[in-house]
Amino acid sequence: MLLRLDGRGPRYAQITRALTAAIHDGTLTPGARLLSTRDLAADLGCARNVVLLAYEQLLLEGYLTSRAGGGTFVSPGIAVERGTGTAGAASETPRLSRSGDRIDAAARLARQILSPRTDLPIDFMYGLCEPDERTIVALRSAFAVALRARAFAYSGPAGDEGLRRALAGRLRGARGIARTADRLVMTSGAQQALDICARLLINPGDRVVVEDPCYACAVAAFEAAGANVIRLPVDRHGLDISRLPPGRGSVRIVYVTPSHQFPTGAVLPASRRYALLEFARRRGAYIIEDDYDGEFRYSGRPIEALAALDPEGPVIYCGTLAKALFPAVRLGFLSLPGELVTPVAHAKYLSDFGSSLLVQKTIARLMTSGEYDRHIRRMMRRYRARRDALIEALRSHFGDEAEVDGSGAGLHVVVWLPRLGRARVDALIGACARRQVGVYSVAPHSVALPARAGLLLGYGLVEPDLILTGIARLAEAYREVMRGRLTTRRDKPRSRPSSLGAVHG
Ligand SMILES: Cc1ncc(COP(=O)(O)O)c(C=O)c1O
Repeated sequence: MLLRLDGRGPRYAQITRALTAAIHDGTLTPGARLLSTRDLAADLGCARNVVLLAYEQLLLEGYLTSRAGGGTFVSPGIAVERGTGTAGAASETPRLSRSGDRIDAAARLARQILSPRTDLPIDFMYGLCEPDERTIVALRSAFAVALRARAFAYSGPAGDEGLRRALAGRLRGARGIARTADRLVMTSGAQQALDICARLLINPGDRVVVEDPCYACAVAAFEAAGANVIRLPVDRHGLDISRLPPGRGSVRIVYVTPSHQFPTGAVLPASRRYALLEFARRRGAYIIEDDYDGEFRYSGRPIEALAALDPEGPVIYCGTLAKALFPAVRLGFLSLPGELVTPVAHAKYLSDFGSSLLVQKTIARLMTSGEYDRHIRRMMRRYRARRDALIEALRSHFGDEAEVDGSGAGLHVVVWLPRLGRARVDALIGACARRQVGVYSVAPHSVALPARAGLLLGYGLVEPDLILTGIARLAEAYREVMRGRLTTRRDKPRSRPSSLGAVHG
């Protein structure tokens, strides 16, 4: 046997590679006897020890075996690429399971829908935010405390008890949810929380009702689990409860964003909340209440959660620290009806044994030391200033040609441009990109939106002066696209519709 060495790296490694290649390509067949280390060393012109090292490595990895009577052989059971065992046999490509196919397709679509960040100098990407320097300092010292406490173990699937206690207290105070810490399970962001609920609660074909428009990644999690997703339109007051599917039949989940509808910002009024609870109780459905940006409400009192109306009822409350702190913290949580606590903790256990204990202890420390509250108050001022700058800029550049929704809370608004038409949104996005401004369409989150064009503008990461520049450029781009539209359509410019221009919470 002639071993061809590739000349890369130490000699013993070259011999190891050459032997495994010979086994894989069938030159050395299973059961074949190898040259003695002395003979191979002589063939290769190297020390016997070098060959010994290579043989020992391959014995360890199971490519070779040695026999009591002496001699080294290719392992009889070794799988080869083109060996005698498989020669001529038809090969089968391994495939995903049906559920694997669904997961892959749903995630692929969601990733396309949530357009990647443009990285343009002014970027109104939704979902991004950063803490200020003071919070970073507070995080550093809270992390140091967690390190000193040697928080290096697994946290347990439900999560760190101190953090759950702190969160349960906050949920009781700010959201009125009278559930204790043992009803909470920490997750890796709200997305994992939604995914776990979908995996635990949905049989393929089950009906899941969502709002339209709706957060595309929530829909993706439900579809990945095989749900038949039914989209019901939202109006000024959120989900239109009167359109919930009548009659018998399984509605497994109703997924809502009642405090700040995503993305329109509507607040679900009390009458609809009670009607929704009644529907869920009657039909044996769970309600998932996604309170994704609940910490930031700029006027009035915080809104009581749906889960607060019936703590023993069927509401799964889903929260996240991705907006209150920053997305990279990857911490979310579920406040659960009693019967779901253990199954959810088990699903979390199988998924990753539990979220990072170090990170959880750090955030718990931030909360118990009062730093978290100070952070929220500072961020509230910061985001309010950005929101005000955004609304003022939209008002001064667009007048009544733009209608702004969702500005009462959170870190984004929806800007409707009724005269533009949905088909022109991509042209507007392109014209903005040429001006170094990233803006995003609301359309991917919906199937049933009216023909009007809408932009989803996040302002969590954009400073007020850049907001002003960005909106001035957006207005310029809008005029350019509208001119093009009027020219191509040979339309006469029309006066502005007078009913527009409202700003809604
Ligand atoms: C409505 C809504 N739900 C859930 C999530 C997921 O949040 P997380 O980053 O905590 O996974 C987001 C993220 O932006 C969201 O907007």
